[in-house]
Amino acid sequence: MEILIKNGNVVTASGCFRADIAVDHGKIATIGNCLDVEAKRTIDADGKLVLPGAIDVHTHLAMPFGGTVSADGYLSGTRAAVCGGVTTIFDYPVQHKGETIMGLINTKRRILEREACCDYAFHCCITDLNKGEILEEMRLAVDEGITSFKCFLVYKKEGMMVDDGSLAKLLLRAKELGAMINVHAENPDLIDIRTEEYLKEGKTSPWYHYMSRPEFVAAEADKRVVHWSKHLKAPVYIVHMSDKEGLEEIIKAKTEGYEIYVETCPQYLEFTCEVYKRADGRNFVCSPPMKGSESRDALWSAIKSGFIDTVATDHCPFQSYEKDWGINDFTKIPNGCAGVENLYPYMLDAANTGKISFERAVEVCATNPAKIFGCENKGEIAVGKDADIVIYDPKKEFTVSVDNMHSDYDHTIWEGKHFSGYPVTTILRGNIVYDDGAFVGRPGMGRFVKRKRY
Ligand code: URP
Ligand code: ZN
Ligand code: ZN
Repeated sequence: MEILIKNGNVVTASGCFRADIAVDHGKIATIGNCLDVEAKRTIDADGKLVLPGAIDVHTHLAMPFGGTVSADGYLSGTRAAVCGGVTTIFDYPVQHKGETIMGLINTKRRILEREACCDYAFHCCITDLNKGEILEEMRLAVDEGITSFKCFLVYKKEGMMVDDGSLAKLLLRAKELGAMINVHAENPDLIDIRTEEYLKEGKTSPWYHYMSRPEFVAAEADKRVVHWSKHLKAPVYIVHMSDKEGLEEIIKAKTEGYEIYVETCPQYLEFTCEVYKRADGRNFVCSPPMKGSESRDALWSAIKSGFIDTVATDHCPFQSYEKDWGINDFTKIPNGCAGVENLYPYMLDAANTGKISFERAVEVCATNPAKIFGCENKGEIAVGKDADIVIYDPKKEFTVSVDNMHSDYDHTIWEGKHFSGYPVTTILRGNIVYDDGAFVGRPGMGRFVKRKRY
């Protein structure tokens, strides 16, 4: 055996039990009591929790956006991931107009083959149907294991938005192919009208980032997506849910039996729009923006009641000097914040302090992402699954600082956040990649995750 983890409390989405775990050839080989096997390395996990590695199904690494490129590349972003207990990321490459899906994906794969420190998959962002060629090519992508595609209903000026007609075509084609469409839902015209008015009135602080896209602006688009999905009978996955009104519509549709999945992110669970009044408010600018406390409470209660399926990060950090471009004009702030290293510690802290159960934290961060996005070998501590394992010390106290993160950014919205309990070891397919605060993996260790159809 490669590794024997002894005496830990194993957490799955459905329960918690004390057991030993033997790992061989990168897989979980045996789970049992008092396992007596030879292993190259034995880890005593007494007093610790043994969890599946988290799957962050929403990152933007090295993404050209807002006049620059996001501050974490493939190496630093995946390095940070494993140091926070994330063993698989799903990145969102964005198609340039006229580009093919496989051209885009193959370029990214070549970089990740060299640089990835964790496993990786892609949701491909479609911005142009290329006169229908993309709808044809989607079959090829699905055969290659890329079974989800993203539509932005915003970012018109950036050339990333798809119109309702394209969204409808993509939803239908994805349904036909056993694939999924992920949607960023906000109303672009309302955002433009409100932004123009605020700028004309000289209202340029980060607070007006929120005011130009408040709750009802997101809710309109959430409802539109739910409407399309219901009537076209096509499954849909709504990313970074932040508003109560939209969430209520989704919960209603889910209760009626529609196949609608919903993700939220730690920033919407932690912060409210009040952050945009702070002197460093620009650092919190992301889209959609953080909302009021009613929305935040609604998100937590949907986590508790099981209506929110996944928690992912939307990791898209920018450097301070780039955020500063918007000191006098909120529209010039590159949109996005850091989070990949904070996701699992944040949700596990919520469990450790009694807000949710550990089973639920594991479910939304690992098991559901694997199920929804077709990662057959991941997301669970079970015999035969990839040995993507996190050992978590519920007694370790940790305070986030840009200096103890493993990214390339120079500031974080999570600065000063305290966690009760923290991951101490991350194992990626049987390889220890993070140990006691240090990255001990190697770029290039990460592998592409070929996903199955729905
Ligand atoms: O502000 C954000 N979220 N930036 C990344 C792109 C997106 O909308 O997901
Ligand atoms: Zn988005
Ligand atoms: Zn995003």
